[in-house]
Amino acid sequence: MTIAELKNYLGKEVTIQGWMYNKRSSGKIAFLQIRDGSGFLQAIVEQEKAGEINWEKVEKLTIESSVIIKGTVTKHPKKEEYEIQVSEVEILNIAPEYPISKKEHGPEFLFDNRDLYLRSKTPWAVLRIRNQVFLSITNFFAEQGFIRFDTPILQPTSCEDTTQLFDLKYYDTMMYLSQSGQLYSEAGIMGFGKVYDFGPVFRAEKSKTRHHLSELWMMDAEMAFFDQKMNMDLQERMVKRIVKDVLRKCKVELEILERDTTILQNIVEKSFLHMTHKQAKEECKTDGLETEFLADMSTEEEIHLGNKHKLPIFIEDYPFEVKAFYMKKYEKDGVVYAKNSDLIAPEEGREIIGGSQREDSYEVILEEIKKRGYPKDDYEWYLNTRKYGSVIHSGFGIGLERTIRWLTRVHHIRETIPFPRTLTRSKP
Ligand code: 4AD
Ligand code: MG
Repeated sequence: MTIAELKNYLGKEVTIQGWMYNKRSSGKIAFLQIRDGSGFLQAIVEQEKAGEINWEKVEKLTIESSVIIKGTVTKHPKKEEYEIQVSEVEILNIAPEYPISKKEHGPEFLFDNRDLYLRSKTPWAVLRIRNQVFLSITNFFAEQGFIRFDTPILQPTSCEDTTQLFDLKYYDTMMYLSQSGQLYSEAGIMGFGKVYDFGPVFRAEKSKTRHHLSELWMMDAEMAFFDQKMNMDLQERMVKRIVKDVLRKCKVELEILERDTTILQNIVEKSFLHMTHKQAKEECKTDGLETEFLADMSTEEEIHLGNKHKLPIFIEDYPFEVKAFYMKKYEKDGVVYAKNSDLIAPEEGREIIGGSQREDSYEVILEEIKKRGYPKDDYEWYLNTRKYGSVIHSGFGIGLERTIRWLTRVHHIRETIPFPRTLTRSKP
């Protein structure tokens, strides 16, 4: 029996195993706040009804002690919550004084004690939404005929040449921790057509922001015979599916987080916006932001456009110079552009997806590899995707934590992963 199932047992006698996260008592009645992982409940103990032995146990209970509670299920008079009128208490373990008390702690303290902080309501809600986003993405791709294709974490080459790598000693040579499984997924589609991976990737960026992790989870999708337009269409359907599922299945969690879902609800029904990188920059300039036209989108620009339009925006065709070597490119008015898009989430969500059509010409991509000074030998296997039966193909990568941060609107991305790794945090 779990707290989540209580609604099916109204008026019945139940047994719940859990932890006491708070206690309030007034004279002969005590209110125990109990959590069991599946949810939270209030257990009401009346001294007279429960008897002296049980009452003494209740008095001994400290915060985070583990208990078994027996009693009858009743409904909260006003809220959609269930309570237990306790008839019996069994103490499993009495916890010593708990470091995380009711008083306000700074975030550093909470994350120094992340193993304990995980037991609080906010992390409970955020990490359950994380679970839902993971499920929604996985289910979506299974339904769309994709094959899960796991890519290696230890890689001999760099994928995203515009970001920093972690390297490590690998027997007698050096290896890198994956920044993205994409290059391997590109080989994967030559065997399976449409593939996705989902796993941790690592970025040694010196970015100390509330949008950056050093270890994050990424889902890379790659599709043969997809051009950039089909690629964006797929991303839009996937994001809508995630939002729809979270709104429908994570009501309790969103309520705990006090998330105003007006804008999220709207997203499910409306078409996402599209603008070119040039248009996006022009709009930012008109709106008074300091703008560098041939640079990547800045944090301020992404946040500005997201807040203004209140819808996800595909920003397309970045200057090729600021993007990765594998992207398909074209020239217009003397500038080389990539056939790519970053998907910007509203409500300060920033970039949640990066994707592009890939360069499918063997000669063109080989030239780019040489131009950027990469050792051709290391990319020989990758070049085979263009050598033997090259096809138009596209793909994208979604950052799991960026997405969760947007959906939950927690301030810092470290809230969205059980044990965060950032520039300044590697413990516990
Ligand atoms: O835009 P990125 O760098 O794209 C790639 O790695 C491609 N190879 C993906 C692909 O086409 N298969 O990263 C993809 C997403 C970003 O949009 C962002 O959501 C997230 O990964 N991301 C980060 N999230 C948190 N912290 C960081 N340091 C991140 N770097 C990227
Ligand atoms: Mg990107």
